[in-house]
Amino acid sequence: MTDLAALHSAAMAKDQQPFAADRLGGYRLPPGPTVADLGGGDGGLLTEMLAGEPDRRGILLELPDVAAKAEQALRSEGLADRIEVIRGDFFEAVPAADIYLMSVVLCGWNDSEAGRILSNIAATAHDGARLVLKEILVPDGLPHSTKVTDDVKLALTGGHQRSEDEWHTLLARHGFQLDRITPAGAPFCFIEATLTNAAAEEPEQSRQMSCLVW
Ligand SMILES: C[S@@+](CC[C@H](N)C(=O)[O-])C[C@H]1O[C@@H](n2cnc3c(N)ncnc32)[C@H](O)[C@@H]1O
Repeated sequence: MTDLAALHSAAMAKDQQPFAADRLGGYRLPPGPTVADLGGGDGGLLTEMLAGEPDRRGILLELPDVAAKAEQALRSEGLADRIEVIRGDFFEAVPAADIYLMSVVLCGWNDSEAGRILSNIAATAHDGARLVLKEILVPDGLPHSTKVTDDVKLALTGGHQRSEDEWHTLLARHGFQLDRITPAGAPFCFIEATLTNAAAEEPEQSRQMSCLVW
């Protein structure tokens, strides 16, 4: 099982290599001193996000085998003192942080499983904590190439790629208000949300929709 987890993580890192050159698309994290990357793989994205931000500290939560590889990679990048690697399971508990980053994580889980991860964040984080998701956004209704990756996710993991409305509903159900969606280098988007335990449903027009233009 742990071999499979390590293999899956390595495959994901390779899977994202074609997009690595433009992985952030100019995106900057919202303000906050501590950034926890849950299921952060080899730490590549967190390293990139914290580059040039010496006042921020990172935490990478990963399954044990993948965490060991991330530790090695961060040591060789000279970042071991700024990014702490925690071996753990996001279905059990998450560390305290101001910003929670999850890249290509929630699409691997169905709504009930993804909800357990979001609930663990809501149980640990302070009100106003930020969530940053890097995901592929699926347009509602229209035929679109992202729907192929949705079918693949469903077959491989039981998870699925979500539309803006699906993200809005899932996040609101667990106390997060969707703030904005920005391009992250096609085909990905960054979805930002804020933990407001009393999050109310927003009117449709107040949300931004800016990355279905690839
Ligand atoms: C699809 S990969 C994404 C990796 C990385 N975030 C990226 O964008 O390349 C999902 C990651 O979640 C990790 N993961 C899976 N189940 C986990 C769990 N229960 N607790 C913590 N991490 C987990 C896997 O080891 C894997 O690295």
